[in-house]
Amino acid sequence: MSDQNFVEIEACVFDAYGTLFDVHSAAARLRDDLGEKADALSEMWRLKQLQYTWLRSLMGRHCDFWQITGDALDYSMRALNMENNLLRAKLMELYLQLDAYPEVTDVLIELKDNGKKTAILSNGAPSMLIAAAKSANIYSLIDNILSVESVGVFKPHPTTYQLAVEQLKVAANRISFQSSNGWDAHAAAASGLMVVWVNRFDQTSEILPENPHAEIKRLSDLPRLLGL
Ligand code: LAC
Repeated sequence: MSDQNFVEIEACVFDAYGTLFDVHSAAARLRDDLGEKADALSEMWRLKQLQYTWLRSLMGRHCDFWQITGDALDYSMRALNMENNLLRAKLMELYLQLDAYPEVTDVLIELKDNGKKTAILSNGAPSMLIAAAKSANIYSLIDNILSVESVGVFKPHPTTYQLAVEQLKVAANRISFQSSNGWDAHAAAASGLMVVWVNRFDQTSEILPENPHAEIKRLSDLPRLLGL
């Protein structure tokens, strides 16, 4: 079902981790080596990674998302008594080769066939995002890869969402921003973008300023929302 607010959308901008790419696919591929704590490690790694982005932004001590991802993995391995240099190196390497969710390629093709611009807007460092997009075979389907590295602060700082407007040269209300991260969806809406929360895992709505404009279960619901 299309939504009147979305039929004029010119550009579709996607969060990367959790939205296009399955962050848990790295640990899943090493499940045999990681053993019974594989899932706990993956969950803690993601949670710490996000916490460190928020904490460093508040501390005014930015570093790039590659460093954050490594620090979060080190913390998590230590906390779970799983320190192992070889597994650490393998997990970091796998972070550059995350699986895209199964519907991603077809959705990007449909959007482009219908004349929409496509972009990523992510905390990821440019080299991480390029590597992941190439590895998942979606690089040629993304017109712009926008990284918060160009503003030197992480989401949800408003300047990060403003990057989409500035770089794509499309008005905020003609940009749909898709994120599976609830907090990211609220923050993007607060910055004036049209926001679609991709609530893959039936998460509870966040209680934060400004609500996403639409909620879908997976990205394959997006073209209909846009009236395609
Ligand atoms: C990103 C994080 C929020 O890709 O997943 O920006």
